[in-house]
Amino acid sequence: MSLEITATDAAAGAEVKGVDLREPIGDNLFATLDRALGEYGNIYSRDQELTPDQQMAVTLRFGELDPNVFGETHGLDGYPGIVVISNVEEDGHQIGVKGAGNNWHSDMCYDATPPRGTILYAHEVPEKNGLPLGDTCFAATNKAYDALPTEMKEALKGKRAVFDFAARKHLNPITQEQIDRFPAVSHPVIRTHPVTGEKCLYIMRDDTTGIEGMEQDEADLMIAALADHITRPEFIYRHQWQSGDLLIWDNCTVQHRAIQDYALPHRRLMHRTTFAANGAPA
Ligand code: OGA
Ligand code: MN
Repeated sequence: MSLEITATDAAAGAEVKGVDLREPIGDNLFATLDRALGEYGNIYSRDQELTPDQQMAVTLRFGELDPNVFGETHGLDGYPGIVVISNVEEDGHQIGVKGAGNNWHSDMCYDATPPRGTILYAHEVPEKNGLPLGDTCFAATNKAYDALPTEMKEALKGKRAVFDFAARKHLNPITQEQIDRFPAVSHPVIRTHPVTGEKCLYIMRDDTTGIEGMEQDEADLMIAALADHITRPEFIYRHQWQSGDLLIWDNCTVQHRAIQDYALPHRRLMHRTTFAANGAPA
């Protein structure tokens, strides 16, 4: 098998062919994948047949585990590092997190050190008359930054945005105890990617609650304008899942959003893992 990495026609995403992720990832392959992840924002490989242990091994190759609070209630049995993302019910209970990521976001941006990347491995993909449902969209924050007018780049230089987990209350079922664990933090609006060195925009409508040193009204307008800019159609790649897809996204280069256009009896079942970054966003 020879390795082939092909960019999608969109602003983000690349398909990786010629890898069998059941096998250990050697140093050269890892360096290539790590670079492609940073550059394209997400990389995916189809037709993988992975056990939970093998998904854990792929994840740990990229970094230490960095699970989110939803894993505490929806971890895979025996694998606390794997979160089940699913709409499936068994005995009247949700077997996984339902409706995750139904808004543009970057994972755990409300954390002082958000995870570098997230891996979704597709076990079951809903479909209707042969059409896959439950796509995931990715917005290229590096391309969005490049496309900003020079004045805006200047205006944003050195600015830090505030992220507050409490703002998620209207989106996800979260407890006060969980909110208390994540006091508001700030991150640079313009991030420098740790691998590629590219500049990326790091701002989202729901999670970003302010911009330091800016009046609230002005910050709200700025956040909305930038969030809309980042998610313009020309910056988006929309992934149509097939079962057996392993997709890794980079939480700096892209933001993402789940399309909730399916419901039971159409089943969606994903195993999700996250790996840490080397320190806080810079
Ligand atoms: C996530 C997420 C999107 C999806 O797991 O962090 O946003 O399509 N998932 O399931
Ligand atoms: Mn997410």
